[in-house]
Amino acid sequence: MHLTRLSLTDFRSYVQLDLELEPGVSTFSGPNGEGKTNLVEAIGYLATLGSYRVATDAPLVRRGADRAVLRAAVTGAQGGTLVEIELNPGRANRARLNRAPMPRPRDILGALRTVQFAPEDLALVKGDPGERRRFLDELLTATAPRYAGVRADYDRVLRQRTALLKSAGSKGHLRGAARESMTATLDAWDAQLARAGAPLLAGRMRLVAALRPHLTAAYEAVSGGPSGEVSGMYYRSSALNNNDEFDDVAALETAPLEKALLQALAGVRASELDRGVCLAGPHRDELELFIGGLPARGYASHGESWSLALALRLASFALLREGREDPVLILDDVFAELDAGRRDRLAALVAGTEQVLITAAVPADVPGVLAGARFTVRAGQVTRAG
Ligand SMILES: Nc1ncnc2c1ncn2[C@@H]1O[C@H](COP(=O)(O)OP(=O)(O)OP(=O)(O)O)[C@@H](O)[C@H]1O
Ligand SMILES: [Mg+2]
Repeated sequence: MHLTRLSLTDFRSYVQLDLELEPGVSTFSGPNGEGKTNLVEAIGYLATLGSYRVATDAPLVRRGADRAVLRAAVTGAQGGTLVEIELNPGRANRARLNRAPMPRPRDILGALRTVQFAPEDLALVKGDPGERRRFLDELLTATAPRYAGVRADYDRVLRQRTALLKSAGSKGHLRGAARESMTATLDAWDAQLARAGAPLLAGRMRLVAALRPHLTAAYEAVSGGPSGEVSGMYYRSSALNNNDEFDDVAALETAPLEKALLQALAGVRASELDRGVCLAGPHRDELELFIGGLPARGYASHGESWSLALALRLASFALLREGREDPVLILDDVFAELDAGRRDRLAALVAGTEQVLITAAVPADVPGVLAGARFTVRAGQVTRAG
């Protein structure tokens, strides 16, 4: 798929932007702080309803304005689609698909699919487990938009159960009927958490299995050939304790996972009440990454970590295009971070993609094979330069 038009109103530094785009490569260059990342961030938001740069929508609205509007025309195998979202910080956002209002913003997910590389991707390898869970859930939603609902349900139950644990913990002195009633309430929430968590867990485990061969191939391609330093990934669930009953993901079903989650929750109940936090479930899981048999986090060199981060994005891209149309590929300021060898190999890997959008402060950092349309970004204006 590819974007043919992007229009932004009061998004970040843009008062109003109307941009025509073509398939193939487009490069956006200009000095630091002029709005290059803001531009691709808007595209990523239309695809994922989020941005890795912020946890809330408020910073996305231009300072002084009270709402932002993002609009994109997408051409894909199904024809043309117009995707729109209005950001109203503090109130509900509104989304439209082909001008028809949608009941919920997440109903537009899937209309635009992107894979975005950014300097912050290094945190996928070096950062906290939360970074990798977010990576998995975002990719899961890109492969099947219904996972946005699965994730939202789980988050809601988790929040409510955690609140209950906190209040129950502070009432440790409860006796008799009051204590029994609290226990029964917690049991009910355990059941809900297990029911909401099992499909998320199953989705992530299947995703990791599907992604693994792509990751191995991509790491080899980025790092420059088979060096024996093979990369690997492994999903470690806080609830399954290396239970090899679940190793065969092809046969994975949610019912046994739900049961395993319930058991795990029963096992940690006492410490949960002590600490007032929920100690088992997909929100405590880890995606472990390895290079040459060693955990990447804490062992990999800076260059190896970069190669692995790039490989994770390339693997995502390979998975998303498997049997389907290409997602839009976004490379935000990544070439400046890479040595010449990695630059050229990355460029060669992405050159044939239906649409590639690249930002760079220094255009010379972008390898020649990625010649295409050139735009300059300056003072809130984006102009075609060649
Ligand atoms: N909500 C907002 N309202 C107004 N301006 C904003 C808002 N959010 C960000 N900006 C401004 O946008 C600019 C950052 O733009 P952006 O991150 O797109 O830069 P860039 O061109 O990618 O730069 P670099 O080359 O350094 O990556 C900053 O000057 C910032 O102050
Ligand atoms: Mg930038």
